[in-house]
Amino acid sequence: MSKRIGVLTSGGDCPGLNAVLRGVVHAASRQGWEILGFLDGYEGLLSPVQYRILDSSSTAGIMHLGGTILGTTNKGRFVAKVRHGENATLDPAIIEEAKETFEGLDLDSLICIGGDGSLTTALQLQQAGINTVGVPKTIDNDIEATAITFGFDSAVACVVDALDRLHTTAKSHKRVMVLEVMGRYAGWIALHGGLAGGADIILLPEFPFDLNIICKIIKEREAKGAFNTMVVCAEGACPIDGGFTTKQTNRTGETRLGGVGELVAEAIGDRTGKDTRAVVLGHLQRGGNPTALDRILGTRFGVEAIELIMQGRYGHMVSYQNYRVDAVRMEDAVSHLKQVQQDTQLVDTCKQVGISFGT
Ligand code: F6P
Repeated sequence: MSKRIGVLTSGGDCPGLNAVLRGVVHAASRQGWEILGFLDGYEGLLSPVQYRILDSSSTAGIMHLGGTILGTTNKGRFVAKVRHGENATLDPAIIEEAKETFEGLDLDSLICIGGDGSLTTALQLQQAGINTVGVPKTIDNDIEATAITFGFDSAVACVVDALDRLHTTAKSHKRVMVLEVMGRYAGWIALHGGLAGGADIILLPEFPFDLNIICKIIKEREAKGAFNTMVVCAEGACPIDGGFTTKQTNRTGETRLGGVGELVAEAIGDRTGKDTRAVVLGHLQRGGNPTALDRILGTRFGVEAIELIMQGRYGHMVSYQNYRVDAVRMEDAVSHLKQVQQDTQLVDTCKQVGISFGT
């Protein structure tokens, strides 16, 4: 039976979104189904309704492109995540309008590609009677129900490239370099990027750091003839005697993290006398072309989303576990933040190769 399926990309963009869209379109067209791509996330469902038909020609040559051809937003009327761990309930009038669009366009289901906030929105739509299927997306890799999200590998590759570059200049000038990376309240980007990029110290949101320990390590390294030190600092890293460093709260009430790298660099400079510089990698981590892994994962997730619709498994989210793509119930998946733990194997690996967490 012919079906019309809606798809949208919501929340912060990340490399691999276009690979998902392409995967969705190819798998759907094999069934003879039509795909409508809503523009600018869930906002496209509201008046003036905005969508475009996605077919094999409009999705040709997009897999390697970063960003999303549909546009996205992490603001607006559908934001269902406010601060760390807080969920917001959507305005019933907004849900009703989205439902009218869904029914008016005779859609069978809606594929929602987004992070935990956007998937929380998808769950609320599902509960209101809109058939939804979730596809987890975030560079932060902080969704518990999937071992990995696409976009993460590309972000880590960006961190590693930055560290490779910073290494050479740090070494030449015998400096301490502090690289602040994204990840919100989870330290996965810092942990993976730091290990792969040869960091000496990695500061994570999950392990409050002690500046005395960091400075002691730098001095000990100096005494052994290692005159430069590379510090990777997650934007959500906190000192043992302080909280998150934030920039401002945006209009939706969401806290924006940022600035801790500069604070750490200043403190290191003051306490050790070392020439120290801070670099904020920022949105470079979200932009650019996806890695091969993210292209493959994105394609697999897109194809699986159509498979779930074929099986009538609405209210489920695509997930990756044990080298296989499968699905979990959305309500079991959202709001479980995946964070680095003391017993995370990679933490031990880092320690074994001499990396300190400043603890
Ligand atoms: O969740 C993805 C992410 O890139 C975080 O790592 C970062 O804190 C945040 O989004 C930045 O959001 P914005 O694009 O609104 O500045």
